[in-house]
Amino acid sequence: MRVLGIETSCDETSAAVVSGTPTAMVIESRVLLSQDVHRLFGGVVPEIASRQHLTGIVPAVDAALHDAGVSPGDLDAIAVTYAPGLVGALLVGTSYAKAFAYAHDVPVVPVHHLEGHLFATLLEHEQAAPPFTALLVSGGHTLLLDVPAWGRYTLLGQTRDDAAGEAFDKVAKLLGLPYPGGRPIEQLAAMADRPEHGHAHYFARPMLRRRAVVTDEDYYDCSFSGLKTAVLHAVRKAEQAGTLEQDRASIARGFQDAVIDTLGEKVYRAAKAHRRGRVVLGGGVACNGALQQAIRDRFAGRGGVVFAPSPRLATDNAAMIAAAGLFRAAQGERGAPTFTAVASMPLPGLVADRHAAAD
Ligand code: KG4
Ligand code: ZN
Repeated sequence: MRVLGIETSCDETSAAVVSGTPTAMVIESRVLLSQDVHRLFGGVVPEIASRQHLTGIVPAVDAALHDAGVSPGDLDAIAVTYAPGLVGALLVGTSYAKAFAYAHDVPVVPVHHLEGHLFATLLEHEQAAPPFTALLVSGGHTLLLDVPAWGRYTLLGQTRDDAAGEAFDKVAKLLGLPYPGGRPIEQLAAMADRPEHGHAHYFARPMLRRRAVVTDEDYYDCSFSGLKTAVLHAVRKAEQAGTLEQDRASIARGFQDAVIDTLGEKVYRAAKAHRRGRVVLGGGVACNGALQQAIRDRFAGRGGVVFAPSPRLATDNAAMIAAAGLFRAAQGERGAPTFTAVASMPLPGLVADRHAAAD
């Protein structure tokens, strides 16, 4: 099968062509127009995002088809993100995909953005397939899932407040770093080992208790807003002491270490409880090399394999949407003519049963 993917849920206008079967896929082209304008505002401005998608969508799709050397008649389906996201931004993608599908008589398959993130790693690692434990960490979501099969998702835990990426972005702002803040924090944190960067900052790990048991309500959940407040206090204290400049790296490192420890432990608990030998990371925060390394170290020697997408597939892109769409199209799924953009919606096939037995 050959599928054109379209992604416009937030601030990337992206189109890609993916071909193959649900177990072996190849990226034939991938075009990404990043909307840098939002940096000026320190966050995504929905109206501006929609307008930029409007100007970007046609050239992005044309370039994706051109780079893949295919014409619309060579496509078996069009996959488009329909939820969740900024509804005006999503509408540009879904309206365009529907019109394109109608004009070229190709079926259209609506794809859930988070299912796209789950498929991203499969594009680079054929073994990143179910059953596995998944950690989805993006700017809007933090989900811990057990995935016995594609399309079947058990929700084990999630954030009670800020998403992991949101916490990175907010802490970056406190430290005077640009938006989006994940990568700048990772780079600053990497400098914390240098002696000139002051004493090491330690922040309490949210929702991590030593004697936690699986029946605890927060056994798999996370919370990052208290950590963000602790960083705020550390920044204020350093400002008052006149040491902020030399403390910034160690504050960034202390924050990143706390997030990584929390996520690492929760993933480990989930994989152990469900006896999964594979872990798949997804979403923009999965780009974080220190997070990947910490989770790999945790599973090293315990027989667990950790798969993470490279940065170009971890952050929002249409290749992952095409991959999820190819899986759904291969199962005969087609969008009803009435499908539309939805701002918020759970993953299709999601069940919230954190005590479910492994199968
Ligand atoms: O998945 P994504 O591209 O968009 C959403 O669907 O939200 O994720 C974007 C998020 C942002 O919050 C960004 O700061 C974060 O991913 N991010 C990172 C890194 N690179 C991007 N967070 C931590 N470390 C990174 N290296
Ligand atoms: Zn995303």
